[in-house]
Amino acid sequence: QTHEKVAIIGSGSFGSAAALSVARNAASFDFCDTEVKMYTFEEEITVGDGIVSFPETEKLSRIINKKHENPKYLPGVKLPGNLLSCPDLLTTCLDATLLIFVMPFQFLKPLLPTVKKVMSPNARGVSLIKEVHFDEETLGVKLISKQISEGLSFRREEDGREREFKCGVLMGANIASEIANGDFSESTLATRFPPNTDGDNLNEKTRLILNNTTSFRVYSIRDVEGCEACGALKNVIAIGAGFVDGLGMGSNTKAALMRIGIQEMERFCNDFLDGVSPSTFSESCGMADLITTCVGGRNRKCGEIFARSRISGETTSWDDIERDNLNGQRLRGVKTTKQVHELLKSQGLLKLYPLFSKIYGIAIDGEPVDSIIDGLYIPNEVV
Ligand code: 13P
Repeated sequence: QTHEKVAIIGSGSFGSAAALSVARNAASFDFCDTEVKMYTFEEEITVGDGIVSFPETEKLSRIINKKHENPKYLPGVKLPGNLLSCPDLLTTCLDATLLIFVMPFQFLKPLLPTVKKVMSPNARGVSLIKEVHFDEETLGVKLISKQISEGLSFRREEDGREREFKCGVLMGANIASEIANGDFSESTLATRFPPNTDGDNLNEKTRLILNNTTSFRVYSIRDVEGCEACGALKNVIAIGAGFVDGLGMGSNTKAALMRIGIQEMERFCNDFLDGVSPSTFSESCGMADLITTCVGGRNRKCGEIFARSRISGETTSWDDIERDNLNGQRLRGVKTTKQVHELLKSQGLLKLYPLFSKIYGIAIDGEPVDSIIDGLYIPNEVV
């Protein structure tokens, strides 16, 4: 069977948590290079507390490699010794057969030409990025996996034919710190990789590289589009869950929000994507990710802070909330709320999505937070 070389592009909280599992697996499989490289956007980190030792700065990649810990994005969690943090993208991706993308797409996109130059010509990818984009040309959805595929496909010198870069997704109920603590989690891997020339089942090989039988159980499906859309769309609903919490409302209200939320997610997939399977919504990437994000996610937390600020008459901006509460991590839900709104508006579909529309109205358009309840009323023409 073909030898695998895995590269992880991104080293935020989820990137580091995923790298933990992947590096452990790589060390245990004969078909994988033991060393796994993780591309780290270099930052200067202050070390020393000013009491025991003088505060000074050190490069994040060097700290990760010396201490086997990512003190900025996944503090207190030991990373395996065969995981090498690498600030150089060329070195990270050289001859990689499996590329795992886990950073906001705005930062990833400019890196793709460099990745393409050095990756194995037979490389495939898995995106862990939970975003959807509005395509102004087609007035449709632009999936991240599709954009990665377009960025990394190339014309082969031998026969001049286009070699399509295949990209799947891994989505699921995956709060990074919980995965890193070893709490049991499930995840959904959606891939449609054809077998390679050695006849290897690359869908199953990819699953094995990501799976941890005891604490991070990965299930395979083929519905890349539905899986990816669920991962992004649930962040919008989680912002709404934060509003519900900020208003001091209870579990019944949040349950109603999640129920209507998953219906709008499914309707959205049917309106904008082809071939989405109804069963995807009961996988970890669907219902379970919606639940965990509405209960324990950063989008929920920031939604609550936003709601409280509005209720007390303040006008704290989303940028300020992100800066003051996420320690350099990015909030995806508000951007997704805007992208989804653009899509629905462009197709004249806002009325069919009362909850998505209401969350946009509160988050962006200055509507009162307590009007979230109006988003939970489904008009007859929508039912
Ligand atoms: P947050 O970004 O809201 O923390 O969501 C995490 C997540 O996607 C859990 O699966």
